Amino acid sequence: MESGGSGGGGKVFLCLVLALLSVVSAEIFFEERFDDGWEDRWVKSDWKKDENAAGDWNHTAGQWSGDVNDKGIQTYPDYRFFAISAQFPEFSNKDKTLVFQFSVKHEQKLDCGGGYMKLLSGDVDQKKFSGETPYSIMFGPDICGYSTKKVHTILTRGGKNHLIKKEVACETDQLTHLYTFILRPDATYSILVDNVEKQSGSIYSDWDLLPPKKIKDPEAKKPEDWDDKEYIPDPEDIKPEGYDDIPKEIPDTDAKKPEDWDDEEDGEWTPPTIPNPDYKGPWTQKKIKNPDFKGKWKAPMIDNPDFKDDPDLYVFPDLKYVGIELWQVKSGTLFDNILISDDPDYAKKVAEETWGKLKDAEKASFDEAEKKKQEEEKIDDEKDDAAGNESDEDDDEDDDNDAENAIGKHADDTKGDDTDDDTDDEDFSKHDEL
Ligand SMILES: *[C@@H]1O[C@H](CO)[C@@H](O)[C@H](O)[C@H]1NC(C)=O
Ligand SMILES: *[C@@H]1O[C@H](CO)[C@@H](O)[C@H](O)[C@H]1NC(C)=O
Repeated sequence: MESGGSGGGGKVFLCLVLALLSVVSAEIFFEERFDDGWEDRWVKSDWKKDENAAGDWNHTAGQWSGDVNDKGIQTYPDYRFFAISAQFPEFSNKDKTLVFQFSVKHEQKLDCGGGYMKLLSGDVDQKKFSGETPYSIMFGPDICGYSTKKVHTILTRGGKNHLIKKEVACETDQLTHLYTFILRPDATYSILVDNVEKQSGSIYSDWDLLPPKKIKDPEAKKPEDWDDKEYIPDPEDIKPEGYDDIPKEIPDTDAKKPEDWDDEEDGEWTPPTIPNPDYKGPWTQKKIKNPDFKGKWKAPMIDNPDFKDDPDLYVFPDLKYVGIELWQVKSGTLFDNILISDDPDYAKKVAEETWGKLKDAEKASFDEAEKKKQEEEKIDDEKDDAAGNESDEDDDEDDDNDAENAIGKHADDTKGDDTDDDTDDEDFSKHDEL
């Protein structure tokens, strides 16, 4: 309905200005692309070092990538605890949108382990950063077996970790994926995977951060005359006269005393008994719908005296660190492009410039690597066949054993995870127990 080109042009111009303004006004609290010098900004924790169970970090783009020079940090070796963190100038997200974004690549075909990150508040001894260290927000993918493939989003309030009540699926392949959590001052949130919104809503309804607004009135009692029986015996159904006298068994009238029966030697002959066709079991009165049935009694809901709204429910007043704290059976998870900002548009732009720009090349590089792997396996097989080499079969057996062992391990892990799910509100520390 625009009458001339100039109007549309003006609009485009305005949009451009707004877009520029929004980018210009973005506040960046922390940004890490893991260029050289990253080690000066990050502190590896000493956690689990004395048990020789502390994992390390490989500064690499990984086995496949869109750009071999675009490095991140990757967990290694297997069966380790990983804990690393970086500090940024303390800030509060009051009256601000909080955007927490990073990319994760599970090169190892992760079957049980986390790929999440944490935001921590207050003062943290980074050398002692561990699974026990309290955190404010935990966010990112978590995979275990077939049952757990989710984006964890945990918010901490009053020392308690609260899990999101909605399911958000995470990516499970071996490519880089981008995870974004946005928390706004109107207490709404969004979770994005690869720049696409997968979940959104209010932190009031999707986490149990506050006690419930309404509760069942604990004082209320079911009225004495409340009839909650849906069925009652039919008073018109009366037991027929003599019903209880009908015997269960009767003598078999067809039976005959055997010819050779000797009353003197064998005793008096009595015919065997058979089930009585007239016997219908114990009498039960028919039931009818109760005309006075009032439905099941429910206590009325009242305002919860313990409920106190918190207009700052979304606020984390002293955010100061970002950390990765994981237990991994199989290592190879690569983190990159961490961003903490107040501007979802800026985050989107960074996402496009990093993950978005490289994802196709990375896919091609991955396909190439897979092809090469398959060809090598084929050549090995052919070599072995040509030499009549039997050890190939042994290899397969070994593989099976490995797989079985691995599944046993992961099943345990799944169990641990499930148990924890019940106690998550108290203390979410799935990987600490291990
Ligand atoms: C580090 O990553 C590169 C590339 O994926 C790999 O070749 C190398 O073996 C890794 N080093 C360690 C110690 O894992
Ligand atoms: C059989 O295979 C193994 C492992 O692939 C190899 O080390 C060995 O040299 C092979 N033997 C023959 C006779 O080809």
